[in-house]
Amino acid sequence: MLADALLEIDPRGYIAAVGPTPPGCPLPESRPGAVWMPGFVDAHVHFPQTRVVGSATGPLLEWLARTVFPEEARFRERAYAEAVADEFCAALARAGTTTASIFSASDPGATDALFAALDRWGLRARAGLTLMDRGAPPTVCVPAGRALDAAEALIARWHGRDDRLWFCVTPRFALSCTPALLAGAAALAERHDLWIQTHLSENRAEIEATRAAFPGHADYLAVYADHGLAGRRSLFAHCIWLDDGGWDRLADRGCAVAHCPDSNFFLGSGQMPLARALERDVRVGLGTDVGAGRSFSIPRIAAAAYDTARLLDAPQTAEALLWHATAGGAAALGLADRIGRLEAGMEADLVAIDVPPYALDSPARLFDALVFRHDAGPVGEVYVRGRPVGRVKSR
Ligand code: GUN
Ligand code: ZN
Repeated sequence: MLADALLEIDPRGYIAAVGPTPPGCPLPESRPGAVWMPGFVDAHVHFPQTRVVGSATGPLLEWLARTVFPEEARFRERAYAEAVADEFCAALARAGTTTASIFSASDPGATDALFAALDRWGLRARAGLTLMDRGAPPTVCVPAGRALDAAEALIARWHGRDDRLWFCVTPRFALSCTPALLAGAAALAERHDLWIQTHLSENRAEIEATRAAFPGHADYLAVYADHGLAGRRSLFAHCIWLDDGGWDRLADRGCAVAHCPDSNFFLGSGQMPLARALERDVRVGLGTDVGAGRSFSIPRIAAAAYDTARLLDAPQTAEALLWHATAGGAAALGLADRIGRLEAGMEADLVAIDVPPYALDSPARLFDALVFRHDAGPVGEVYVRGRPVGRVKSR
């Protein structure tokens, strides 16, 4: 932590140098009273749930049927998807999230609209067409062949755009995919060297239903592993009910985890034991999991992670959780060499957060204020690769 720092950004948007402000520096202070820090990483968020945040119809399977599937069906209408995509990007920017790993709807047009909005706003993201060909109403299911063809087209159009947007293979969860779709998803990831994201071991009833739907596999994680979906580029959300053997296998395979504690409280899913992941060096980012999560704010999720860790008798500090909110999230998304730290050579994904003067008394007070005092510090400025995040026509 530097009390008075000079951050130099080169014309490409990379950090050229960072250090104490030299004596007699002629530059005016850019935002007095603000703390500059790496932009937040949301390791797990659902774009088509933007308008159903806080719909109290849980637990998981009931909430999906009552709230989520009917809402996600609306994204077949392009104009609706475009309007919500703008709201979604605005919500990320307002929360100081510069990078996100995003589930889109199952509709290819909606996913195209999402990528277009992310592009316009200048955000950084991995995002994927949500793959689902069973276990949900026909209004949201897309047959495997059609979905995989649509994914190919989206990859051709968006993957690698501006070296800031990437297509992510996104089977919703085992229960919404036939074995053929899971295998096709793995082949797609293999063919294009893509990341994979899905849900794992969130809710007891979901786990039971998965066991019944996939009787030939040892457990829930094995369903993904046996279909080629569990490797170093796999990001699993929740992981609440894994046993020690499951955690060992996640670690052995080098998979990453999105910890979504606010969602876990809201749906009553349970509590993810963060310590079990960390003692095995499993990479862990924080996810809002909007709309089961009730906020787009990653600091709020860090506060919920603190509460969860306390309840499990394995407390975490605000400082450690802010690390998961930034550098740890970057590592979970395979972006640790680019973002998450303010260091020379990193891309300048930054936020400025206004904090009350008393919070600057000590690092510990500052970390506590950033994580717990939600009313104290609005996000003032947001940059991705040195450029302000915001809705612009062309970049
Ligand atoms: N499992 C399958 N789909 C979802 C979803 O949309 N949200 C959450 N929290 N879990 C899921
Ligand atoms: Zn989710």
